[in-house]
This record gives sequence, structure tokens and C-alpha cells, in this order.
Amino acid sequence: MLLKTRPQHPIASSSITPEQIYWQRREFLAAASGALLTSMGLGLDSAWAASSKAYPELPQVKPNPSFQDAELKKKLTRFEDISSYNNFYEFGFDKDEPKKNSQNLKTKPWTVKVHGLVDKPGSYLLEDFIKPYALEDRIYRFRCVEAWSMVVPWVGFPLRLLLDQAKPTSKAKFVTFKTLYDPTQMPMQMSRSLDWPYTEALRLDEAMHDLSFLAVGVYGRILPNQNGAPLRLVVPWKYGYKSIKSIVSIELTAERPKTTWELKAPDEYPFYSNVLPEVSHPRWSQKTERILGSGFFSKRQETLPYNGYEAEVASLYKEFDRRKLY
Ligand code: MTE
Repeated sequence: MLLKTRPQHPIASSSITPEQIYWQRREFLAAASGALLTSMGLGLDSAWAASSKAYPELPQVKPNPSFQDAELKKKLTRFEDISSYNNFYEFGFDKDEPKKNSQNLKTKPWTVKVHGLVDKPGSYLLEDFIKPYALEDRIYRFRCVEAWSMVVPWVGFPLRLLLDQAKPTSKAKFVTFKTLYDPTQMPMQMSRSLDWPYTEALRLDEAMHDLSFLAVGVYGRILPNQNGAPLRLVVPWKYGYKSIKSIVSIELTAERPKTTWELKAPDEYPFYSNVLPEVSHPRWSQKTERILGSGFFSKRQETLPYNGYEAEVASLYKEFDRRKLY
């Protein structure tokens, strides 16, 4: 996390924002007919973002109308910024290192194990793991504990659907996620900088909330490795470190596990990690955030309680003192 201060990511040169093109393209794809679609589709593709073309498009992704807020759509972060300013410590501690160092991560075949306190445990190849679910496109705010933020059109499905299939037993209280452990592919796992494999967890009711999302893509295409391919969690009302990448294990447990950042610095990165602007990090304020890609001197924006999802999630915590929920 913010162990050192980092320079701002350079402002990209393109005058056409990928997000505009993305939405034009989506609307167009929905409306256009065969031949026209092919010819114009290619044109838009090339204008969209050269770097994104490296990533195959996911088939049959439908925008979920409940998560297509018009205001957020206008604020979508450029694909280039989402995929080049990353935290993925298995590949390095600088923001540009995950992109440089993760390109050889082998994401196929990829096995995900669902186990622990469930009636239906299983080990699945990724393609079988996602097969039962309709992939949807959801635009979410994303807020890093380091006080930068972005707006991302994720592709995936609600975690709740997977849990419904796995059938947690009555003893299950937490869902624990682990990233692949393979130091030959993830070089920083050879260091003792963090307790590997990266581990995160949610209370079962948090995991069952409709907003908790398993993502396999972004901007309609498969996830870049640096963003957590082939499968990551997205929990938009919590700081970004809860959104664990490159998941291989989902385990239902009775006890609350120790999470990676909690083990490293419990006062700075505790279990709940809900975005609460009034609760400062011990070393910096959480009242405002820098918008990724907006330039170093741009005005910061105010951080919203629960990152803008208060109406949806506050009831999960009604018996708690909010300040203890950070
Ligand atoms: N997952 C793993 N396995 N390793 C990591 O280092 N970093 C976390 C989270 N998930 C991390 C991880 C942090 S600190 C953030 S802010 C987000 O991923 C960043 O996601 P992004 O790079 O897609 O923006």
C-alpha cells in the first residue's frame, strides 16, 4: 500500500477518450445490423484504444441497467489508466511494475477451488466456473486507500450467485479468498514483503450483498493480467485492497481469517476497510481523492461515505459504531 509516495501517472495524449468510444460502440453494437456492424465496428475498435485490442472481447455481456448511472458513465476512467497504474504487489511495488512484470502470468488453464463450509465444494476450470452465470457490465466507483479513485465498467457476475450454488452450511460466517501462490510466476512472492499468498475476506452477509462482484473483464474485454486476470473480486464500498486479484481459492469459514494487509499493519489496513471519509488513515486524510488520469494539479473530489454506496450497504453495519468499521 502507500509505503512510499509515488509520482503521478503521466496524462495520456489521446484526444478521444476510450470511454466515449466504448459507449458509442456498445450502443452501436446493439443497434446495428450484420455487415454494417462489421465495417463500422472495426473502425470504432481501432479508434477505441490501441492497447485494449490486445484483450479478447467477452461474448454476450449485457449491461446491467441498475449499474449504468449516466453521471458515472461520463466519468469513466480511461482503459489506459485502469490498466497501467496498478497495485499488484506480487509483480512489484511501483504502479507501473504490474503491467510490465505480469505479462507472462499463465491464466489458462486456471483452476478455482470452492471449499470449506459448503454443501457443494468443487474445483473448476475457469471456463466451467463462469459458465452458469450471465456476464453483466456494471459501472462502479473504485476507491483506493491511498486516496485515488477511478470509475470502472467491470464485467462479471454477483458473488452471491456462486455462493447460492455452493450452499454455505449454517456454520459458515466468512468467505476467504486467496490469490495464486507461484513465486516462479509472481516474483515478489519470493520476498517477505507481505504474507503470501495475498488473502482477503468478507463477512458472509457482505459477500452475499448484490454489490459484491466477481469480475472477469473490464470495458467488455477480458481482464488484463495487471488488473487481476483471470478472476478478481470487486467490493466497491470498501478500500481497493479488499478487491483481491487472480483468485484461486474461495473458502467458507466459521472464523474470521487474518487478511494480508491486516497482518502487515492492522492499524492502517483493518478487516472492514469501509470507505468512510470522516475516518482518517493514521497517516493521511480520507476526506478527498485524486481522480486517476485527471492530472496532478486537478481539483480533488470529495470522498463519499461507503464510496457512494451508503444507501445500499449501511444496513449491513447498523449495530456497529461507524468509526470501528474502517
Ligand atoms: N490483489 C493481489 N493479489 N495483490 C495485490 O497487491 N492490491 C490491492 C487490490 N488487489 C492487490 C490485490 C490494491 S491495494 C488495490 S488498490 C487494487 O487491487 C488495485 O486494483 P487495480 O490495479 O486493478 O486498480
